[in-house]
Amino acid sequence: MEKRENFGGRLSVILAMAGSAIGLGNIWRFPYVAGEQGGGAFIIVYILASFILALPIFFSETIIGRRSGSNAVGAMKKMAPGTRWKWIGIMTVISPMIVLSYYSVVGGWSVEYLFKALAFDFTGVPSDSISGFFSRFISSTWEPVLAHTIFIALTAGIILGGVKKGIEKFSKLTMPILFLLIVVIAVYSICLPGARGGVDYLLKPDFSKISAGTIASAMGQAFFSLSLGVGTILTYGSYIRKQENLMVSGVGTAVADISFAILAGFAIMPAVFAAGIQPGAGPGLVFETLPFIFNKMGARIPWISAVVAIIFFLTILVAALTSAISMFEVGVAYLMEEKGKSRKKATLQVGLFCWVIGLLCSLSFGPLSGVHIFGKSIFDFLDSLCSNWLMPLGGLMFTLFVGWKMSRSDVEDEFTNHRKLNRRGFPLVYFLIRYIAPVGIVIVFLSNLLL
Ligand code: PFF
Repeated sequence: MEKRENFGGRLSVILAMAGSAIGLGNIWRFPYVAGEQGGGAFIIVYILASFILALPIFFSETIIGRRSGSNAVGAMKKMAPGTRWKWIGIMTVISPMIVLSYYSVVGGWSVEYLFKALAFDFTGVPSDSISGFFSRFISSTWEPVLAHTIFIALTAGIILGGVKKGIEKFSKLTMPILFLLIVVIAVYSICLPGARGGVDYLLKPDFSKISAGTIASAMGQAFFSLSLGVGTILTYGSYIRKQENLMVSGVGTAVADISFAILAGFAIMPAVFAAGIQPGAGPGLVFETLPFIFNKMGARIPWISAVVAIIFFLTILVAALTSAISMFEVGVAYLMEEKGKSRKKATLQVGLFCWVIGLLCSLSFGPLSGVHIFGKSIFDFLDSLCSNWLMPLGGLMFTLFVGWKMSRSDVEDEFTNHRKLNRRGFPLVYFLIRYIAPVGIVIVFLSNLLL
């Protein structure tokens, strides 16, 4: 069997974890959900949900991962031998591969849009050639499938490099650049004439907009954004060296993730307001509305908006890739450690699985649009299965495992590096893991059922 690798130092851990957390969830999902749910008020609830509900789950996953030094299934087998917890491990190896399958379809859209931006297709053209492009593109057969194939192949290419030379190197190289790029776009967007409304929308919370639905969607967003409940953070956690501080890694990742989401909000909302478009435009906000805005702005200085469009879609693509590799690695670590496969073979198998499922998801916007599962298209069905059910269920199980199955002293040992670190924060973290996070997840479940 190939030797198990670890991440280098503290910064490497945070950048790899932040790479997983920061992705389409921040740039594509967060702005439109915030737009639908009332802007600033939603952001405040989302930040609270990230620290009170999501961070304890994050800690639970890193505690299990680092203590066992194993993939998700191996961890359960080692820490609860001969029990049904193994099935939770299996579920959390399969679910990230399903998420990756449809995530890769949207990742593929960003590949296509980057090519379009590079060909200057979003600037200086009649607006009707842009409106309608998105729906024409996603419902066609070959182009989105090709884009999905390129995205999976890029992801597999990084994974082949291994933990240090693939995942760690790519995240270390790209994460600082991503922050820089999103700041550039946010500054550009805020400086547009008429952008003020967008800035106010994000900064002046309207608390009358907060309802039970807002709270549930803020929790769901925090969950998805921190990559929780699907064994990803557990697997990355298993690559954290024994001397690193889990509290620092978790808080660092959450802060990076939240900051990036808010920056993405500032990159998108002011431009949306400047163009006189409604903020609650839904999932099409990034792929439908923004090219329209880039084009509109390009009427005055075409090359600037062309460059902004290129930077924007490159940012989405790279952010999606650093998240995709974290999901891919869960399956690869499992196949290598439990089935004795080489990294190459494991990569090929996971890639093929995700490609086939993703193929169905991609076609479900076009030729397979008539196929429905529980009244939903294949893409929507898998998305809601994972986001609404499998991810919260995985998260719930991880917190129950750490809060109720492991002994308190084992948990404290792992979290404080055998009590070498400052232990003052531990009682609060333990309380959140044992009581608050599980109750919060059950609320998310109930709201998915009832709302
Ligand atoms: N956190 C990623 C995002 O916000 O785009 C999505 C994600 C990555 C979900 C990894 C789940 C996962 F395992």
